[in-house]
Amino acid sequence: MRWLEAGSGWPVVLLHAFPLSADMWRPQLHAVPDEFRLIAPDLCTRPNDGMDGYARNILALLDALAIETAVIGGLSMGGYVTFALNRLEPRRFSQMILADTRPQSDRPDGRAARQTMRTLLADAGVRAVVDVMLPRLLSARARRDQPEVVAEVRSIIEAQPPSAIDTAIEAMRDRPDSTADLPGIGVSVLLVAGEDDELTPPDEARDMERRIPRSRAVILPEAGHLSNLERPDAFSRVLHDFLLAGR
Ligand code: MLT
Repeated sequence: MRWLEAGSGWPVVLLHAFPLSADMWRPQLHAVPDEFRLIAPDLCTRPNDGMDGYARNILALLDALAIETAVIGGLSMGGYVTFALNRLEPRRFSQMILADTRPQSDRPDGRAARQTMRTLLADAGVRAVVDVMLPRLLSARARRDQPEVVAEVRSIIEAQPPSAIDTAIEAMRDRPDSTADLPGIGVSVLLVAGEDDELTPPDEARDMERRIPRSRAVILPEAGHLSNLERPDAFSRVLHDFLLAGR
């Protein structure tokens, strides 16, 4: 299992979005606050193991690193894996981060769209998936004004094996609804959303804020779905404030 890490001290595990990798957390890895250790793993699992498969591998990584509890969170699909981790071993969380994500499972039209994406991947390859995903992942403003972010996202996605992308699509399609779990989350939770996120709009974060007892939603201005890449400094500032408040 591959992971990136920076800093030393209290562990913070950040899980990436689909169809990216740990590399999407590089801006945050370059700005780790003192006394924190940021760990960004590549999500991996076997076909048909669903979100729980990813979560079990994160638990195995925590065990291998002798980490009992950590701040754990993720962005979008990373959030779906966070929900799975919370179901499997809630005691491993000291705090939780849910960025640009949603607790609901896919509706029937969403499940059908997953199948269309799998077919596109099989027929036309990863580049075709990038072309479909980029306008969803990045705001129109970022696509116009941040060519370096567009290039970075494109290159991270193009480096992913088609089989891993296919497995992730299937796991997202079949993920359970986590809405009923939200009131039972006992740790403090940071909810972040880009104000221009069209995949998981800010209202998702506001709704989770109403359902999770110790939570706070922060909406980042001028950010799309990959809010940590479009507004890295603002995202990191919010993250740091949350981490330091939890010490
Ligand atoms: C992601 O950003 O992880 C995915 O696009 C989320 C999804 O498709 O449900």
